[in-house]
Amino acid sequence: MSDATRTPPLGVPAARITQRIAAVTDYPAATNSVPMPAPSHAPPPSSPSGATISIAPGASRPPSNPTVQSTKPTGSFLRFPQQGSLLVSPRGAYLVHATLGSGEFGAVYEGVGPFDQVYALKMMRPANRPYVEVQAEWSKEVQRLLSVRHPNVVYIYDAFEHNSLFYLALERCDHPLKAMLGRPLQDGLTIELARQLLAAVQFLHDNDIVHDDLHPGNVLITHLDRPIVKISDFGISQELRGLPAIRPNVVHHAIMAPEILTTGFTTKQSDLYQVGLLMYWMLVGEPAIPPGMPYADLCRWVAEGEPRRRAEGIGTPLGDLIARMLRRREQFRYTTAREVWSDLRELPGWKARELFPPK
Ligand SMILES: Nc1ncnc2c1ncn2[C@@H]1O[C@H](COP(=O)(O)OP(=O)(O)OP(=O)(O)O)[C@@H](O)[C@H]1O
Ligand SMILES: [Mg+2]
Repeated sequence: MSDATRTPPLGVPAARITQRIAAVTDYPAATNSVPMPAPSHAPPPSSPSGATISIAPGASRPPSNPTVQSTKPTGSFLRFPQQGSLLVSPRGAYLVHATLGSGEFGAVYEGVGPFDQVYALKMMRPANRPYVEVQAEWSKEVQRLLSVRHPNVVYIYDAFEHNSLFYLALERCDHPLKAMLGRPLQDGLTIELARQLLAAVQFLHDNDIVHDDLHPGNVLITHLDRPIVKISDFGISQELRGLPAIRPNVVHHAIMAPEILTTGFTTKQSDLYQVGLLMYWMLVGEPAIPPGMPYADLCRWVAEGEPRRRAEGIGTPLGDLIARMLRRREQFRYTTAREVWSDLRELPGWKARELFPPK
């Protein structure tokens, strides 16, 4: 998602807002004099300082502005990995292959690492932020992923720093959900994917975590004997720590729940609203919040309950259920993912399922 699609929520003081800059890729020059601390996260100690990156001849993806001096006192240079680069972690080396995807804060590469396994290597983009900020973000995502082990949450194998850049080694999934969107999915497939999503969301909520960023680029799919959902990207997720609601630092416009507009807070129900948007998109083939809408129009669209109206317009029991997930007021929505599933499993699309018959 581009910067244009993200904004600080209403009521959040400017100082608290994380500036997300996609185009600029290196640590800012202002941090060059800051000595580089060792990464604080326990499992991935700093990579050996002598580690080198080899660049394959004819590599297809030149690094963007790759030679700005890093914070390292040795005067080393930041180099983004390319095909053929070798990344070294205390747990082994990873040979970088193709680029799998990239978001505002991460570039994700396929790589072959320890035990000749294929991994997805997510590099935290410096994006013109100080070294310590990137390190803290990486550390937070690592800790979060380590703390939420669930079959429908992407698995983290390793986390390490290499040449002043921070990486996560994740299980390599086949594609993001967004690759399946653009035409309507069958009811049975929509419900099966929703079932897994809801199971993961319930698990997060039971652990007092709101994901806050459930868009189709952050829901990954692996195909075994049936598609398996893997929620990823905990970059902006937050712990509620017993509170019912929390102010997010940034929100994606395209998945903005109405309470963000009215109060500036998100809750567990905001995640359920985002799941409702995903289910609508799967079922209809188009998003309930049209992409690229000017921000003011988008606010009106959400505030006036247009996503819910669209879901009602589907005119089926599944559409009605999604409409309830997209109600503007939280008291009229489902409270938990578990509740959503107990209604969803009663629908004909699930009861008479042909795609995924009960085993
Ligand atoms: N484990 C994985 N397996 C396969 N592809 C992946 C994996 N992780 C990420 N990707 C690909 O890389 C893309 C970006 O990854 P990710 O969402 O983690 O980065 P991001 O910068 O935080 O994204 P954004 O800010 O847009 O949400 C995903 O949409 C997906 O296409
Ligand atoms: Mg993402």
